[in-house]
Amino acid sequence: MSDLNTEINRRRTFAIISHPDAGKTTLTEKFLLYGGAINLAGSVKGRKAAKHAVSDWMEIEKERGISVTSSVMQFEYNGMCINILDTPGHQDFSEDTYRTLMAADSAVMVIDGSKGVEAQTIKLFKVCVMRHIPIFTFINKMDREANDPFELVDEIENVLGIRTCPINWPIGSGKSFKGVYDRKSGVISRFIQGDNGHRTEVIETSLDAPDIENLITKELYDKLSEDAELLDGASDEFDLEKVRKGELSPVFFGSALTNFGVEIFLKYFLEMTTSPLPRKSNEGIIDPFREDFSAFVFKIQANMNKAHRDRIAFMRICSGKFDSGKEVYHVQGEKKLRLTQPQQMMAEERKHVDEAYAGDIIGVFDPGIFAIGDTICAPGNKFRYEGIPTFAPEHFARIRQVDTMKRKQFIKGIEQIALEGAVQIFQEYNTGMEEIIAGVVGVLQFEVLEYRLANEYRVDIKLEQLPYEHIRWIENENVDIDSLSVTSDTKKVKDMHGRPLLLFTHPWSVNTVLDRNEGLILTEFGR
Ligand code: G4P
Repeated sequence: MSDLNTEINRRRTFAIISHPDAGKTTLTEKFLLYGGAINLAGSVKGRKAAKHAVSDWMEIEKERGISVTSSVMQFEYNGMCINILDTPGHQDFSEDTYRTLMAADSAVMVIDGSKGVEAQTIKLFKVCVMRHIPIFTFINKMDREANDPFELVDEIENVLGIRTCPINWPIGSGKSFKGVYDRKSGVISRFIQGDNGHRTEVIETSLDAPDIENLITKELYDKLSEDAELLDGASDEFDLEKVRKGELSPVFFGSALTNFGVEIFLKYFLEMTTSPLPRKSNEGIIDPFREDFSAFVFKIQANMNKAHRDRIAFMRICSGKFDSGKEVYHVQGEKKLRLTQPQQMMAEERKHVDEAYAGDIIGVFDPGIFAIGDTICAPGNKFRYEGIPTFAPEHFARIRQVDTMKRKQFIKGIEQIALEGAVQIFQEYNTGMEEIIAGVVGVLQFEVLEYRLANEYRVDIKLEQLPYEHIRWIENENVDIDSLSVTSDTKKVKDMHGRPLLLFTHPWSVNTVLDRNEGLILTEFGR
């Protein structure tokens, strides 16, 4: 029992979010290097030509340089066991990001110091706010000319609507970047550029050191003294409770590429975050430290490894210990089963796991029985964790296979990708499965769909975008779809489960249709 407590206590599970190019991948790599989880010779400079960041694994992602799928990595540091959930950086993948954030206990937000808060950060951030998850800010690329730190911090407060508390403060930026000043201890960690540009050395000193004006220049010394005083007077005081409630974001400065400020950040982060948090279920709050194993599925992905043709369900363990030798109970499937091929991910490498604890993420082989949001418990338990809502699609396209001989692959592929939650599929009433309407939250998902069908299922498709932007499910039982009176811009379709729904081009048509059909009940989310 005490083993269980120790193991769960030392776990931390966080998601890393950023606008593309802010440095999320570089920072993740540095974390992993600290944990000894990867062993890259030298720095990651030249990565573009030589290799891709370890957390990228889909071809399309490599081609476009964006993360379209979330991966999970685990590493050990200072006796802690840390799980990082990588999130897609592109705005088109907010739904995937949302699901990933559901599996995390806190988030690290990476911001480019020369760009400040960017559009995508705002969207992702709102998701964190919705869930009240603690947010830690890492302002990156201080080795490049950056915006004024006060402006950066103000922007986070104003645009994102969260209070901030800088834990350290930068001394200059770009060519004159001299390091960071720790506000509590007064320690200055000096940034020293090496001859080849990317080697740094951290030397600790303080504002009172006799030679400090020479080391960081008189001008920067004066500015730092002034800034420090201003900050003490004007910024929010550090309050751990507020941080843990997601009301105050601790802010750190650094340069992931040159590995500066990363370890400082990691140390503070581990001090300020908690072990895995309790989760809500339909039978009340579930304590992570209880002995019984429980988990929920937050992501399903097929064909991660083309050689294996597989489908993996990712689950976040919420309580107790996972033991690969023991049976579990799949609540939604109402079945006892053994989770097969349980594994943890290290980018493209998979490691078999026999045991895992609350806070950990495991991937298990899925023979097609799991759905996103499903709960897995120890036998004898039947509670369900709170579901993961789906986003209403905003873009629709008609999809046809080019070669009608490949009907089987087409249906298999499209159903599979829909089950993963990447697209939602609908059918018109008078057509067969060779023609489908796909709905997505972000248009880039159409490209992913096209790419994946061609690459994984060898099916080429023709995609015709449709003008619909709004979707409503019909809640009434036994509705006679033919007799519904709709506007000319409305399309009647059914979803994968045969439930009727309407697609609208204009938002006002929703009300018109409601007016014309007495008693009709429309909802925005499919159940
Ligand atoms: P992302 O995952 O958030 O999309 O960003 P990623 O880490 O891939 O970083 C985007 C670019 O920014 C990369 O350059 C990376 O080297 C650079 N970068 C990351 N952190 C820092 C930093 O602290 N300082 C500086 N100066 N640059 C940083 P790239 O040219 O796109 O790729 P590469 O050729 O370096 O691989």
